[in-house]
Amino acid sequence: MMLQVLLLLLPALSPALSWIPVQDWESGNVTASVGLSGQCVCQVYLPDTTFPANRVQHMQQVSKDLILEMEIQINKMERYEVKLVNYLKELTDLTYRVSVLEGSSENYIKLDFELLRIEIREFEYLVYQLKHSLNSSSPLFDSLYTEIRNMTLIVKQLETYDNQNLEVIRIKFAKLQKKLEECQKDHEFIQPDIGNCNHTGILSISKPVVVQLNAHLSASYQYGGWGKDSKPVRGYENMYFYGGFSSPAVYDFYLYSDYEKLILRNAFQHRDIRGWEGTGNNYIVHSNTIYYQRYSPFSMAKLNLTALKYDYRVISDASQTFSYIYSHNQYLDFAADENGLWVMYASENSKGKIVLAKIDEKSFGIKDVWNTGVFKQSAGNAFMACGVMYVTRAVDANTEEIFYAYDTKTKEEKQLSIQFKKFQEKYSNLDYNPSDQKLYMYNNGYYVSYNVSFNKK
Ligand SMILES: *[C@@H]1O[C@H](CO)[C@@H](O)[C@H](O)[C@H]1NC(C)=O
Ligand SMILES: *[C@@H]1O[C@H](CO)[C@@H](O)[C@H](O)[C@H]1NC(C)=O
Ligand SMILES: *[C@@H]1O[C@H](CO)[C@@H](O)[C@H](O)[C@H]1NC(C)=O
Ligand SMILES: *[C@@H]1O[C@H](CO)[C@@H](O)[C@H](O)[C@H]1NC(C)=O
Ligand SMILES: *[C@@H]1O[C@H](CO)[C@@H](O)[C@H](O)[C@H]1NC(C)=O
Ligand SMILES: *[C@@H]1O[C@H](CO)[C@@H](O)[C@H](O)[C@H]1NC(C)=O
Repeated sequence: MMLQVLLLLLPALSPALSWIPVQDWESGNVTASVGLSGQCVCQVYLPDTTFPANRVQHMQQVSKDLILEMEIQINKMERYEVKLVNYLKELTDLTYRVSVLEGSSENYIKLDFELLRIEIREFEYLVYQLKHSLNSSSPLFDSLYTEIRNMTLIVKQLETYDNQNLEVIRIKFAKLQKKLEECQKDHEFIQPDIGNCNHTGILSISKPVVVQLNAHLSASYQYGGWGKDSKPVRGYENMYFYGGFSSPAVYDFYLYSDYEKLILRNAFQHRDIRGWEGTGNNYIVHSNTIYYQRYSPFSMAKLNLTALKYDYRVISDASQTFSYIYSHNQYLDFAADENGLWVMYASENSKGKIVLAKIDEKSFGIKDVWNTGVFKQSAGNAFMACGVMYVTRAVDANTEEIFYAYDTKTKEEKQLSIQFKKFQEKYSNLDYNPSDQKLYMYNNGYYVSYNVSFNKK
């Protein structure tokens, strides 16, 4: 949340806005306000004669780093979406305020309204683009914050030998600083902790959220899967997928640009994969790529939705004997967590116990393997979170539990009983998504999701 504040605060310093030359700032003005949803909206204009250019340069660099950082951090902050939508409304308000200002004749301060308008439009665009790519825990925050404090000091110094305009700036800066402090508190409060594995494992699973019956609205489509891209590429930050059928055969996938589109069953893409049919329903979408079990030859397959290219790898050790208890053909179970891509299977060598393998995303090969102590046929399903494999089983028709965990870091296994409710007895797909720390379950035709809480000690 602070990021957009700071970007707004540094309009002419952002590379995206670098066409606004520093020397164009002929006089100064600062405004700060708290938006509808508590976010800060700030504009800063400073006189070029007194403004320290070296600091501008430094901040330009910081700003550049920040944008780079944002590009790396895609889709970490879905829950900020509502706030950002409000923020965009706020920008519209600002545009209105500017037009009012324009009408009045304030000529002791020269604001370039046209530039301001361009800037606002640019921010709108930027915010749209960055909507899901903010990493709020970045140390760049603190660095920018320090920079603002320093600017306050500079302005204080300037005040001694300049006129009332600078006094106005000083007051505004003081206010701005207070607002930023408030924003930072707020930001700490809502920090989502996405991607953080500094914990000792899963503590609990929330109540189920039963989203709805599958997109075919068919209760007989008991085999399937749904979820969200666990590492979305730019432009597909909120992509959801669904596939379902009346048998474990997998012929097609539906892709939705966001959650609402999924609910409305309004897919932007339908992928027919006949020729590369799948089976077993333990597929996931990661980096705009569907990973699934190919029927023939029996192998792990991927469909890269960006390149529209298929690829497959036979795992010679994987057996077609051992499935999970609720569904047939589940020989390869794909998973994605904070550490990357995984596939779980059982083999004759492992005598039916689950083998956990790390997939190398680039080569689409297996780069590491762990032998776990749990029989696949006694398991409901399995998933990965923070490098730990969690295995489930039924307690009763409406209750499931995580009863086993295997930590790939320590190679230790653990018996657990973390219970959670299910809507229907059987399910064919259960996966953790590290981008929102939720579990997605395809529960006998229904989309169900859960929040995962970790034990932070
Ligand atoms: C600065 O801008 C605000 C609104 O953006 C305006 O109300 C004010 O009159 C301007 N001038 C000064 C000196 O603050
Ligand atoms: C801010 O000012 C302090 C003291 O003048 C200085 O030590 C520090 O490096 C400055 N910070 C930045 C980010 O410029
Ligand atoms: C956010 O950024 C910090 C520092 O750049 C990094 O250590 C952390 O892993 C990032 N968090 C996420 C969720 O990517
Ligand atoms: C992990 O969390 C503990 C307790 O919350 C904290 O003391 C420790 O510094 C954290 N470690 C890292 C690497 O962030
Ligand atoms: C899941 O987490 C979100 C965000 O923290 C919260 O709004 C929601 O109520 C939680 N859902 C359940 C079922 O606990
Ligand atoms: C998918 O294809 C695109 C375009 O060729 C490529 O950049 C990307 O790395 C591929 N992704 C995966 C996961 O193979």
